[in-house]
Amino acid sequence: MLIFLDTADINSIKKGIEYYPIAGVTTNPTIIARENKDYVELLKDIGGVIGKDKMLHIQVLGTTAENIVKEANFIKDSIGGNIYIKIPVIKEGIKAIKILKKKGFNITATAIFTPQQALVAALAGADFVAPYVNRLDNISGDGVNVIREIKKLFDIYKLNTKILAASFKNVEQVHKSSLEGAHAVTLSLEVLENLLYHPLTDSSIKTFIEDWETTYNQTEFIK
Ligand code: G3P
Repeated sequence: MLIFLDTADINSIKKGIEYYPIAGVTTNPTIIARENKDYVELLKDIGGVIGKDKMLHIQVLGTTAENIVKEANFIKDSIGGNIYIKIPVIKEGIKAIKILKKKGFNITATAIFTPQQALVAALAGADFVAPYVNRLDNISGDGVNVIREIKKLFDIYKLNTKILAASFKNVEQVHKSSLEGAHAVTLSLEVLENLLYHPLTDSSIKTFIEDWETTYNQTEFIK
């Protein structure tokens, strides 16, 4: 299981990398535009913060295979690093995935809402597929069931493509997706930090320290 940060906010990325087992950063045009900075410089900065070992997923905007391929080359040449090109699963996107895989690019197929979209993207050569859990839940869909069915299809057909489950708004969505065998999840720092939160953990720690202090008149282990 891999955990990604779904943000282009440098401070969140620095904090996430410092504290948590992070495999990389995922972005999309909305996430980048939110920062309102020169996007090439911003992505280079993110690459510098995470280093070359961690993955950086960057999405194209093109809606023709030709433009998607041009944008992928631009991203590779201008940003570099351990780049994954995120390509939406439209018809032209699938064509672009086939072309770019032959050229050795790493690909994440994105904007996935059905198991069949994921299957076609995987057969075209995508390294990851990114189904959007919360966006489905928001319109009375069942995001976790889409993860379940993608996993089943990938298992039946022995496909190596990994599920990078995305669009999470709460811990329960992440938990259920993990139970279904999602290979990776991409989270805001807030949702990631909520994975650790439990009031009984906090009250247990408070009691441990109070009991120690009552007996030893100090709050740390070191004398
Ligand atoms: O980048 C894809 C996905 O993570 C988007 O999430 O929160 O905009 O639905 P969200």
